Amino acid sequence: MDPLTLETAVLSQDKRALVILDQTRLPGEIQYLTLTREEEIWEAIRSLRVRGAPAIGVAAAYGLYLAAIQEETEDTVAFLDALRRHRDYLNSARPTAVNLSWALNRMTAAAQAGRDSLTVPQIKERLLEEAESIRQEDIAISRAIGALGFSLLRPGDGILTHCNAGTLATAKYGTALAPIYTALEKGWQDLRIYCDETRPLLQGARLTAFELQAAGADTTLICDNMASITMQRGKINLVFVGCDRVAANGDTANKIGTSGVAILARHYGIPFYVCAPSSTIDMDTPSGEEIVIEERPPQEVTELWYAHRMAPAGVKVENPAFDVTPHTLITGIITERGIAYPPFDRAFARLGFPGKEAACV
Ligand code: MRU
Repeated sequence: MDPLTLETAVLSQDKRALVILDQTRLPGEIQYLTLTREEEIWEAIRSLRVRGAPAIGVAAAYGLYLAAIQEETEDTVAFLDALRRHRDYLNSARPTAVNLSWALNRMTAAAQAGRDSLTVPQIKERLLEEAESIRQEDIAISRAIGALGFSLLRPGDGILTHCNAGTLATAKYGTALAPIYTALEKGWQDLRIYCDETRPLLQGARLTAFELQAAGADTTLICDNMASITMQRGKINLVFVGCDRVAANGDTANKIGTSGVAILARHYGIPFYVCAPSSTIDMDTPSGEEIVIEERPPQEVTELWYAHRMAPAGVKVENPAFDVTPHTLITGIITERGIAYPPFDRAFARLGFPGKEAACV
């Protein structure tokens, strides 16, 4: 099975439903869900049936379109009010990945732009076009990140990645895994990819190992606590990770454990790259300190993936879903517009990301 044939979030043929691959079932089962109600779409995002920052953005954009076509009013002002309520509701599904609010705001801005000139049915058409553009652009962006990331690779390299920033996390190809898909397309068979399992939700084991193995890449799964010895043994030449929100100074929120990998990479002198589509770069957030870290249910740590509960009942659990890697530990940020090197605030300005001047210390 070619993983690039899997669709993370698309519209049904009649354009009246969102079809997602249920990632909670992987790798055992490939099951698509057809969702029409915004509550179902909210739940699918919340419980990581569709996940990964860019894929969440695409799913939410389609979700907002579907909520819009279910509105019956022909009055533009009432329609736009309702649209904003749907936007706020969908936006509450998860807090850390900026792609969610980015995609939803882009949709409401497209609708708002037609306020004086378009009828409600025409605005609904605009929303459909905007959602489709968000998905198509994401594919093109992933391709560009793939090409730039590939330019950093040498035959035989060992690459460590954390969580899943692959085709399953985007509309296609992924961000951190896009350079690997590019290499495979060019016939490179000798890259060695190490996937952190990524406790507690095991995106590395269930998703990254699944898609890379299916793509024919040389894939090795390690527990999160094996990253150090794997680096120490000289098996890793560089680290590629994705991101959920990159602040204006380059501080980067990504799946919990990423900052630990960055610290290890610095210790062993291994380049650490963040692969970041422009939709994940948040120039309105000055630094990592302002990024909201999602807290998830304790059951994900104590029982979700175990046949029997594996921790004592009632034990205190903390389950932050993301952490922030300080920009000082990041070698480069690979965007579709070019690779940003420190100081990141200046590099982002050069690449055309507008924003407040952030202090880079
Ligand atoms: O909680 P998840 O599985 O949505 O977290 C995903 C990640 O942390 C990814 O690395 C990130 O969203 C980038 S996906 C291209």
